[in-house]
Amino acid sequence: MTVVALEQVRKVYRSGAIEFEALRGVSLQIQQGEMVALMGPSGSGKTTLMQIIGLLDRPTEGRYVLAGRDVTTLTENERAEMRNQEIGFVFQAFHLLPRLNVLENVEVPLTYAGYSPKERRERAIEVLQKVGLGDKLRNLPSQLSGGQKQRVAIARALTMRPSILLADEPTGNLDSKTAVEVMRLFQELNEEGTTVVIVTHEPDIAEYAGRIVRIRDGKVESDVQNPHRRRTVGGLG
Ligand SMILES: Nc1ncnc2c1ncn2[C@@H]1O[C@H](COP(=O)(O)OP(=O)(O)OP(=O)(O)O)[C@@H](O)[C@H]1O
Ligand SMILES: [Mg+2]
Repeated sequence: MTVVALEQVRKVYRSGAIEFEALRGVSLQIQQGEMVALMGPSGSGKTTLMQIIGLLDRPTEGRYVLAGRDVTTLTENERAEMRNQEIGFVFQAFHLLPRLNVLENVEVPLTYAGYSPKERRERAIEVLQKVGLGDKLRNLPSQLSGGQKQRVAIARALTMRPSILLADEPTGNLDSKTAVEVMRLFQELNEEGTTVVIVTHEPDIAEYAGRIVRIRDGKVESDVQNPHRRRTVGGLG
């Protein structure tokens, strides 16, 4: 099944009289179960593309079909609802709420979706165990390592069981050993069927993906299967 289908997507940013065309006709299809690395120089349009795929922004022109639904014409409310159901987001800077403990952070999307406190708790504990943080439920983000913070962010992105997990430089703030642990988790989730798209500058990190898409000047420069895909081994530490 095709999860993401972009057709000739253009994105023009306007600030006052100045226009900048960040995406210049991007067509891209991502199938369910793929793990894609998105690479390209700074300013090439990777984050812009992720924001469009993640329904945080809309194309200026072109068509976007997400999970079989044309989302170009949805209202803001419909988009927000679909984002909550279909998309999990992970950012370089974690974006955890500092006053909430690990469990509460992971419950946030479930609260928005209207789950009861009991269901929220059960689901949040389940995903936190999955990412190997079952023993840190009551810790505050400040009491965690970088890799653990990113695992909380991944757990939060997973609570709504999204069809696609989007990560914009998720290992950018992590040392290389911790980065590999996070990539191991993404690979495990991908092997269980979650579609994963990861923006990265690092060729080492991109090697964990099954497909590598390169963006340059707002266009797809190359799009290839990765014959050297690296496999992480063993369970979570
Ligand atoms: N809100 C905005 N208004 C105007 N221009 C923008 C805006 N957001 C991004 N841009 C421009 O669009 C281009 C693409 O930006 P984008 O953030 O997508 O790049 P990127 O590939 O993610 O870069 P990096 O690797 O540095 O994160 C850049 O030239 C940027 O300056
Ligand atoms: Mg970026």
